[in-house]
Amino acid sequence: MNGISFDYITEYLNTLIEEDDEGILEMEQYANENNVPIVQKEVANLLKLMITIQKPMRILELGTAIGYSSILMSRSSKFVKEIVTIERNENMAEIARNNMSKFDENKIISIIEGDCLKVLEKLEDKYDMIFIDAGKGHYNEFFPHCLRLLKDSGVIISDNVLFRGMVANNDLLIRRKITIVKRMRTYLMNISKDKNLITTVLPVGDGVAITARRN
Ligand SMILES: C[S@@+](CC[C@H](N)C(=O)[O-])C[C@H]1O[C@@H](n2cnc3c(N)ncnc32)[C@H](O)[C@@H]1O
Repeated sequence: MNGISFDYITEYLNTLIEEDDEGILEMEQYANENNVPIVQKEVANLLKLMITIQKPMRILELGTAIGYSSILMSRSSKFVKEIVTIERNENMAEIARNNMSKFDENKIISIIEGDCLKVLEKLEDKYDMIFIDAGKGHYNEFFPHCLRLLKDSGVIISDNVLFRGMVANNDLLIRRKITIVKRMRTYLMNISKDKNLITTVLPVGDGVAITARRN
């Protein structure tokens, strides 16, 4: 058990997801071999579904790593016209740029190198979808900016919100993760209780929250 779902459920659900995109498979293999954290298979599938339903033209991503999720999103729908992704690790950004030159056929992804919070403070254009997948301890600081940069009809997707189950169950809590877990609990409380927002938290992957403005 990964702290979130029974292994047999996760394993079974993963048998239903078939990925035949060679580029995506190549990046998955690289990530596995080099211990690069990328979205889990079922979260990747959820992103594709959300993009298919929402048809976002402009996507903002926090946390590029090797560019796996941004490339996956760029290939999910012909409606996606621009993806901006933020990464503070120089080496990751370099690998991501190489992957983008190989796999971002329509050249719609651009990387901004820097710390998410500093970059977010400077951004002004609005996005249809924002994917938060960086700095688990800082979602509370990122979120007000994400909301400011979100179009009225937009969606914010936050990954790792259950953090191996620790956010929901103290028995799973590792001492050195207490601060991150406390902050994540505050984050989930805030986005769930805000009367202007509607949020659902899904026990998928490491936990995914999907948030939109109420209309
Ligand atoms: C989980 S990985 C992103 C995975 C990527 N979204 C994917 O699925 O392919 C998180 C990345 O965020 C970066 N990161 C963490 N904190 C950050 C911050 N405050 N600002 C910018 N990047 C950050 C890390 O260097 C790491 O590469």
